[in-house]
Parts: sequence; structure tokens; C-alpha cells
Amino acid sequence: MSIVIRNGTVVNATGAYPADVLVEGERIAALAAPDSGLAQQWASGAERVIDAAGKYVVPGGIDGHTHMEMPFGGTFSADNFETGTIAAAWGGTTTIVDFAVQGKGTSLLSALDKWHSKADGNCAIDYGFHMIISDVNDTSLKEMEACIDAGVNTFKMFMAYPGVFYATDGEILRAMQKARDTGSMIMMHAENGIAIDQLVAQALASGHTDPVQHGLTRPPELEGEATSRAITLAKVTGSPLYIVHLSAAHALDAVTQARDTGQNVFAETCPQYLFLSLDDLAKPDFEGAKYVASPPLRPKEHQAELWRGLRTNDLSLVSTDHCPFCFKDQKELGRGDFSKIPNGMPGVEHRMDLLYQGVVKGEITLPRWVEISSTTPARMFGLYPRKGVIAPGADADLTVYDPTARQTISASTHHMKVDYSAYEGMELTGKVSTVLSRGRVVVDDNAFHGAAGHGTFLKRDLSQYLV
Ligand code: URP
Ligand code: ZN
Ligand code: ZN
Repeated sequence: MSIVIRNGTVVNATGAYPADVLVEGERIAALAAPDSGLAQQWASGAERVIDAAGKYVVPGGIDGHTHMEMPFGGTFSADNFETGTIAAAWGGTTTIVDFAVQGKGTSLLSALDKWHSKADGNCAIDYGFHMIISDVNDTSLKEMEACIDAGVNTFKMFMAYPGVFYATDGEILRAMQKARDTGSMIMMHAENGIAIDQLVAQALASGHTDPVQHGLTRPPELEGEATSRAITLAKVTGSPLYIVHLSAAHALDAVTQARDTGQNVFAETCPQYLFLSLDDLAKPDFEGAKYVASPPLRPKEHQAELWRGLRTNDLSLVSTDHCPFCFKDQKELGRGDFSKIPNGMPGVEHRMDLLYQGVVKGEITLPRWVEISSTTPARMFGLYPRKGVIAPGADADLTVYDPTARQTISASTHHMKVDYSAYEGMELTGKVSTVLSRGRVVVDDNAFHGAAGHGTFLKRDLSQYLV
């Protein structure tokens, strides 16, 4: 099947220019100037021509942080690999990297098998895995090597959630030594969970049970402290470090300082920290539960710092941390006790659109939009140049984006399997018009044309930001 995307503006991380894109089979075959004889020849010979006049043609988005069917707080996140990847495709994302979870007392490899069986044959777009290590011991440290051989070379650890995923500094140190020795990377959930648990217990004992307490008992200083500690452990061990879902200026300061000294420290933030705030967590009548995720939403002042970090590259990229729980029956588990609200928010469908608002508002440039949503994730997670760039030979994962279309986010129109939207009623400029996943049109003309099972597992190389 040959497809030509005609008359659009191709936007890569390096810049934007008018070009026609020829897709042959699953890959991009060539680019040509739209007024060239070559482009006209392609258009007349192609099986399908997609008119992208007035639109941007960008590499499909890569969401490097999702949790489909994740066990948490006695329940499971509401999207499975089928519904979650279809929703991602609707929003112009053509690759996800999801987190396999090692349970306490189980092995990394059995967790990997389990996640393969959840995902294989069910994904509408390509996918890879990170591994959550919640039980550090000689066996799991050894198993990190087998995970790396299997294309899973990023290992998330938690300084939060004592008794569940929490790792001690000593355990983190040991895993970091293994990451250093193998060229792999430790990803860190950096919040001081021991101190937070005391604050949570004190709040509950004083009768403070509302969702806003989730934010008040996890102050930004405790994210800053944990981030600094993780950076120190990375320095001592010589391990690269990737801070996930960074939400607070305090943590960003620590990352910026480390990067200024040349340490291999990277960080992502998420749309919810750029657009939502502690005010949302404080919504009355338990509405705030919709916004419970960790780290929590911060006071508005942090948002400007995060946008600055995205401009200066102290924040390398934006992932969603998509971990949806329905308001009814799932978030409601925490009525009367905020600590029982399952942690996580939906977002995989709207990352590209929300970040495009940064272009509209002048926070980031058009190529930077592509860089933080696709190119850097591809490089960070060992997928470049197969993914993350519009260039000959790359997978034909392409999003045609209409920069002038208007849309309003709503749970009544979104495709995620969750009964609310954290951005309900938000009016946006820009909208996906067509999406290709490995040469197959999966979204076009407001309809889904893909299929569960089209997505393939991506065995990832080591991070391309490490020498
Ligand atoms: O609240 C969150 N972020 N839930 C998902 C698990 C995690 O810590 O990333
Ligand atoms: Zn986390
Ligand atoms: Zn997460």
C-alpha cells in the first residue's frame, strides 16, 4: 500500500518545512518538495492521497509513561491495552511505553510475561515496557540483565508508598549499581514516602479526610528532597537517572542543578502539572478525588516553572502517567478517607492536544512540541530513528494535525474507558485529523479505522542520551 500525504507542513524536532511524504508499506519511503515533479508523480501513482493542506504532519506521539490495567489500591486502572491504545491513537499518539509491575515476592521475568500476556494481540499501536522493581534482591538484580536483553531496559523504583512499592536507599543504591554496569536506566518516583505517611496519618487522626488533603500531606518540599536524594545516589553510583512525573519547582531546581554539573539526570513532567492545580483537588463534594495522583497537583505558581523547564530542556519530555480510575466505584473507594482514593488520572488521549496549547500560548515552539512529545521520548527510550522522526526509513507513524480546528474536551466524547475527564469543558485550539500507525490509517475523518492487535511489541535499545 502506498500513501502520499500531500501539501502539509512537515514538523520535526529540527524544524518545519513544506513537504509531501511518501509512505510505502509500514515505512516512510521519501519526502519531496510539494511542487516538484517527483511529488506529482507520487500523487498520481499512490493508492491513497491524504490532503494535508493547511495542516502539520508530525511524527506520531510517544507516551513514555502509561499504566494500563495497573493494580493499585485494591483495584485496577480502568483502561486495558485495547481501550487505552485506541484512545491514544485518537489523540495522535502512536507508541506507548507501559510499566510492567513486579509484585513483592515475585520475579521480574514473571512480571514481564504477565504484561506481555495482557498486551500482546490487544494493542492498536506499538508498545514497549518499562519494569517496576518493588522487590530488590539478588535474583531480581540479576534478572535486570535478562529484562535488558528482552528490550526492557528502564527500571522504575519508588521512594513513596511504603509497604507497597517503596524501596530503601540501600535497595535503590544496589539497583543503580546494576544500571550503571549494564548501561540501563533507573526511573524514580521521587517523593519522601516515609515522611508523607506520617503527615497522612496525622491528617486522618485530626478528621481531615477530603481529597485536598492528598495534596496538603505531600508537600513539594518532600518531592524536592527525594529528588535531591535520588540524584545524590545516582552520583555516588555513577548511574543515569530519570525522574518520572516531576510536578514541583523544588524538584526541578534539583534536576537543573545536577544537569548543570553534567550529571546524566533527566526528567519528565505531565500535562496535569502544566494545566491543573491544587485548586482542582480542593473541589467540593468529593469532586477533588478525580484529581488525586502522586505527586499531587501543585499550587498554580509551579506551572510557569515547569514551562520554563521545558524550554530550557531541564525537563526533557512530557508523558501522561495515564492511570485512570472511574469516579464511580473506584475513586469513591476513598470517600471519608482520602488515602484510600486510588492514585492516578486519565490523560493518554489528550497529551498532544494539551501540549499544542503551549505552542498556541507561546510557551514552546512548534518543533519543541514535536521534540517533547515524540523525538525525545524516542531517543530517551531507545526507539530512534525508527520512531520520533519523519525521515526515510522510519516507521510511518504519522499524525496530521489541524492547527486551527477547535475542540472541547469532554468525557462524553473521549475514548478512554473512564467516566470523567480531568479537563472537562476545556476549549482547545488544534485537533488531530489523521493518524497512521506503521503505514496503516488508524484515525481519519473522525472515525477509528485501526484494530486491536495491529500494535507490535518494541524491543527497545538502550537510551540514546547515554554515551
Ligand atoms: O498517581 C499515580 N501517579 N499513579 C500511577 C502510579 C505512579 O506512581 O506512577
Ligand atoms: Zn510514580
Ligand atoms: Zn506512573
